[in-house]
Amino acid sequence: TPIVFSGMQPSSDSLHLGNYLGALVNWVALQDEYDPIYCVVDLHAITVAQDPKALHDNVRRTTAQYLAAGVDVERSTLFVQSHVPAHTELAWVLGTMTGFGEASRMTQFKDKSARHGTDATTVGLFTYPVLMAADILLYGTDLVPVGDDQRQHLELTRDLAGRFNSRYGDTFVVPEALIPKESARIYDLQEPEAKMSKSSASEAGLVKLMDDPAITAKKIKSAVTDTEREVRYEPHTKPGISNLLDIYAATTGDSIAELEARYAGRGYGDFKKDLAEVVVDRLTPIRARTLELLEDPAELDRLLAVGAERASERAERILREVYDRVGFVRRG
Ligand code: TYM
Repeated sequence: TPIVFSGMQPSSDSLHLGNYLGALVNWVALQDEYDPIYCVVDLHAITVAQDPKALHDNVRRTTAQYLAAGVDVERSTLFVQSHVPAHTELAWVLGTMTGFGEASRMTQFKDKSARHGTDATTVGLFTYPVLMAADILLYGTDLVPVGDDQRQHLELTRDLAGRFNSRYGDTFVVPEALIPKESARIYDLQEPEAKMSKSSASEAGLVKLMDDPAITAKKIKSAVTDTEREVRYEPHTKPGISNLLDIYAATTGDSIAELEARYAGRGYGDFKKDLAEVVVDRLTPIRARTLELLEDPAELDRLLAVGAERASERAERILREVYDRVGFVRRG
């Protein structure tokens, strides 16, 4: 069975619609035919400053949201990154094979370091993509379901896998990215040129899975659109309405053409009202289920312990092979 690996950072109390439509929906769908491993990447989260108490809560909250969205521990391995030390161990080895210039070209690093300023730009932020490569390569992953913003990190992962294999012999599977069509890049509702992100400038542009449904509806109805009235898909000239069409299509499975035809001559008001309903209907049960799961933190911890056990066993096997190939002496 082909292996799937993906992860999200527990850097907020809620995942957002971009995380959900860009990645999580695919995670759930892949469970039918693949052997998936889904990770809460807490080590990645601390590459920007986190409040310890908030981080602690957000690891469980993120786990609960994965489960509520449909990740099923019978079919998937679900665990927390810091529970499996092999991730940081492999990251060290891969870091010694990553060019400084190569890592410097990562656009997400350049964006984040520009946003946080030189003083807050840490070595950890710089080596973030190397740890991500370790996450993926440690399991012999075939497929990585992510949003479009991870494309470059996936390319680096593939390069590192190939480089290790040619230097030390065939060890790693070279993974493929699985990036959705309509929802690969969901934009901020208030700033439709910027991607929706936990660090969005405005709360109003960010649709959170854990928002109250009334707030979600309000955010969608107040989304920025252009001065025309026509519901037409034109990302360059009409980014606001095009983003909303992408969200609609990804949520319901309707095609963009179908939606354009349905709303022809009806204006933005109607369209936004329906979109708000469609999104709220989808997110409300996920939110409710998340809150329910959070009432039993001991059970969440138990599920994560089972996942960590399974993940460790698999990761240790590949790490040991890597250490042998590099030439390390085994502990006697
Ligand atoms: P994170 O937590 O920033 O994002 C989690 C997932 O959500 C996707 N995503 C989006 N998709 C569409 N539109 C958006 N506006 C949007 N914003 C976020 C991201 O592409 C991602 O799939 N580096 C990863 C975490 C990670 C990882 C891994 C992923 C660490 N190790 C190994 C895959 C495999 C990240 O960006 O997390």
